[in-house]
Amino acid sequence: MYHRELGGAECARDIPPLSERIAGARLWVPESHWDMVCACFLTQGTELPYINYSHGLQEYRKEYEEADPDKKFALLLEIQLQHNSWIYLHAIHTGYIAQRFAALLSLSSEYSELRIPKILRLLGHGGNLHDLGKTIISNKVWDYPSRHPEEMVTIRKLHAEFGVMVAAAAGLSELYDMIAYHHESLDGSGYPFGMRGNEIPLYAQIIKVADVAQALHGGRPYGNSRRTTQEIGAAMRINFWGREVRESWANPFEELLQGNVGHPLIRDGNAFPTPDQAVQFTNLAAEELVTNPYCDF
Ligand SMILES: [Fe+2]
Ligand SMILES: [Fe+2]
Repeated sequence: MYHRELGGAECARDIPPLSERIAGARLWVPESHWDMVCACFLTQGTELPYINYSHGLQEYRKEYEEADPDKKFALLLEIQLQHNSWIYLHAIHTGYIAQRFAALLSLSSEYSELRIPKILRLLGHGGNLHDLGKTIISNKVWDYPSRHPEEMVTIRKLHAEFGVMVAAAAGLSELYDMIAYHHESLDGSGYPFGMRGNEIPLYAQIIKVADVAQALHGGRPYGNSRRTTQEIGAAMRINFWGREVRESWANPFEELLQGNVGHPLIRDGNAFPTPDQAVQFTNLAAEELVTNPYCDF
């Protein structure tokens, strides 16, 4: 359970310890949050394969501690960028789609709470950092050119929990839900916890929609290549709505697909926004989408 493992950091749910799912590995978790990033690398008796034993957050520690909130978000994006530029582009694009999708959902009275700049900002930054845990895992996994062997799948799936550990070290408890649960599915087939239905927090489900849409749009090194908006819509109509996320979200998502789905800062395929630019854009997009939920920039 994270509450215990992370030394009292708040988390919405009881979560079985990571160590239960890695035979022979036992996590050592010290008191200090800053040491926690190291903690998940340190196992007693077993070294996990494909794990990086140092982390960018350690390198940026002093700068991070002195940074204002936006600079903190930018530094975490920088850490993702330095780890793997594709993970970085995936992250900021996911954040953008999450914001746009949440704005469209907010048109329904059921989700009117989403139509607040602060919430759309949070979803943007949550999307930007939802895969933060990937920075703990070697690029041998992320750049693997074909379907992952079983051993890599096990390690890959740890990124959701590793992400919470990095977020805890970074003092960002408001992002835990989006990071920990963005691979959970309504029908219980997701990971890491196999949560079901309403157990899965709203924001995590929004990030999941954006994550899947980005993967379909942008392609992955180990997956499919770029698709058109029509193809994204068609792919997501197969066993996604109602099985992985709420069925009633299919229509608002179709509305999103009516506009331009690419991230405005990387749309031309050549630009490469800096982390500061990406954070600034996330904040501006939140303001804009509150007044115009249909805006596609
Ligand atoms: Fe993920
Ligand atoms: Fe992702």
